[in-house]
Amino acid sequence: MSKGYNVAVVGATGAVGEEMLRILEERSFSVGNLRVIASERSEGRVLRFCGENLKVERLSSASFRGVEIALFSAGAQISKEFSPQAVKKGSVVVDNSSAFRMESGVPLVVPEVNPDALENHQGIIANPNCSTIQLVVAINPLHQITRIKRLIISTYQAVSGTGREAMEELKDQIQQWLKGEEIKKEVYPHQIAFNLIPHIGQFLPNGYTEEELKLANETKKIMEDDRMAVTATCVRVPVFIGHSEAVTVEMGKELSVPQVKRILSRAPGVILQDNIDDHLYPLPLEAAEKDEVFVGRIRKDKSIKNGINLWIVADNLRKGAALNAIQIAELLIKENLL
Ligand SMILES: NC(=O)c1ccc[n+]([C@@H]2O[C@H](COP(=O)([O-])OP(=O)(O)OC[C@H]3O[C@@H](n4cnc5c(N)ncnc54)[C@H](OP(=O)(O)O)[C@@H]3O)[C@@H](O)[C@H]2O)c1
Repeated sequence: MSKGYNVAVVGATGAVGEEMLRILEERSFSVGNLRVIASERSEGRVLRFCGENLKVERLSSASFRGVEIALFSAGAQISKEFSPQAVKKGSVVVDNSSAFRMESGVPLVVPEVNPDALENHQGIIANPNCSTIQLVVAINPLHQITRIKRLIISTYQAVSGTGREAMEELKDQIQQWLKGEEIKKEVYPHQIAFNLIPHIGQFLPNGYTEEELKLANETKKIMEDDRMAVTATCVRVPVFIGHSEAVTVEMGKELSVPQVKRILSRAPGVILQDNIDDHLYPLPLEAAEKDEVFVGRIRKDKSIKNGINLWIVADNLRKGAALNAIQIAELLIKENLL
């Protein structure tokens, strides 16, 4: 390996962690030493990176000695316990979990939207929720032209958003269904194959789920607008990779459909896919393994003043998680913020 930054990936064997290794390699990230870390379950497993075999290490307080960049993707409990230890050892942490996202003083960053938020970091930078990232990449360019007053969001979220075991559960249930066998449910409370589940995260006393509130609160934090009204319904769908969102955007002043298309066609990280005559609109199957956020079905919302409807799709494991985290790490290097 060439001389570069010492990087640790915590949760390297997970759906997001494996994507991180792939993206570090694809983008020729300047890696010196790479430590791949997981739990005792995966200790000693071998992962490939840039033609080398890397042995999975078990997470411990000694894991971060000499590590400059620690990419965490092993759940909120692990982040809460080990991120502060990594910072003490001198690492800068980019954390994929929800552990620190809403903490004041912890930047919640999407590089296309609020790169300046990185400036005063205290060692931990939070990577937003997957459904939040693709939303703000697509709507922030409109917000820059005329303030967004209200968002109504319905999500259609892939099982990979829950992790590796959920992807296996969908595969197994499809096979069980084809063979006429009993459908086994372990990850979700209901069968996910050939079904939809309007329940992501725990239910809260107000009837929303945690995921729905994350989407609202994180969007307001990233876009620095507490007055924005946001409501969401989050639904798990039997798709392996790629979250989709139907979004109604109510703006301060009217933007025509051609104006919205022009703005989005120039927006960083966005690809406009909107030609209904050719049946062209974003699809999760096509967004999978891509880096960009795809937007289509752009039309005026006839039911409200200054309303626009959008359909937004992105790969939740890439832009929704691993890629965004690595873009943050790249920005930290570029801006001398390590
Ligand atoms: N999937 C997404 O689209 C997405 C998007 C945004 C954020 N996230 C967040 O990213 C994190 C990981 O998600 P995922 O989808 O990759 O989950 P996953 O596929 O279930 O992988 C979990 C990873 O965490 C590791 N891990 C679990 N317990 C551990 C422990 N006690 N010590 C060390 N490592 C441990 C696992 O290692 P073992 O192999 O040893 O079990 C595995 O590498 C979560 O916080 C999730 O909320 C996920």
